[in-house]
Amino acid sequence: MQTITSVTEMQTRAENLRGEGRRVALVPTMGALHDGHLSLIRLAAERGDTVVVSIFVNPAQFGPNEDFAHYPRELDADLKKCEAAGVSVVFAPSSEEMYPKGYSTYLAEEAVARPLEGVSRPAHFRGVITVVAKLFNIIRPAVAVFGQKDAQQVAVIKKMARDLHLPVEIVTAPTLRDADGLALSSRNRHLTPAQRQDALSLSQALRRAQAMVAQGEHRTDRLVAEATHILSQHRRVRVIYAALVDRETMEAVREVRAGRTLLVLAAWVDEVRLIDNEIL
Ligand code: PAF
Repeated sequence: MQTITSVTEMQTRAENLRGEGRRVALVPTMGALHDGHLSLIRLAAERGDTVVVSIFVNPAQFGPNEDFAHYPRELDADLKKCEAAGVSVVFAPSSEEMYPKGYSTYLAEEAVARPLEGVSRPAHFRGVITVVAKLFNIIRPAVAVFGQKDAQQVAVIKKMARDLHLPVEIVTAPTLRDADGLALSSRNRHLTPAQRQDALSLSQALRRAQAMVAQGEHRTDRLVAEATHILSQHRRVRVIYAALVDRETMEAVREVRAGRTLLVLAAWVDEVRLIDNEIL
């Protein structure tokens, strides 16, 4: 496995891989890799023949009150995990390499990025799609894999790739959950055991909504009311949003359409902000 920190070196390596006829599959990450990331890497290995993982804590996607400085950075451990997972190249640039002095170009997607996360984290997706577009330009992968847990992120990236005619296939990997149902996230490490118990209400609410739909309930107000009720029974949980939306546009829907409608949840569990979603 090769670790590359310079943009030009990564561009040359990627060009050589393409020259050898390799189908490069990219897994963009911010490091602190957990089993969820490893499942993205496994899917990337199925969809391409050379897996590149980027590890970059992207300052542009953190808001002023979000803790960029304290985001976990564990490069050595991450490299070992990538090596064990069969990754060919890790691209781990510095902030100065990605955003050199005088950097001033940012992208905005102006529809899918607006609701939900876009309301509470207004500049978040501007930062995400800017860095993802930069990674796509540097590496020019045939495929890029993202996790379904960040459903709006995937939808915004897909829209950006379509709008900008980027020749990359965006693949979505299913959410990986712990045995108790909690969706894997680097934020889970901040939960105390008691907070974790309350955090389980997110996956419980999603499962309940799925069960209601399976029993024929298609009224969105009923489903959202039930999900909110489950969350509100836990004293550490504060609901940020609970909504039924179209999986591509993130627009609110009036009726559940099988396979297209997502129940998306965001909540504070004390000081830890969690999101989760499931397709209904
Ligand atoms: O999901 C993440 O870890 C980040 O938002 C991403 C896609 C790597 C962009 O920085």
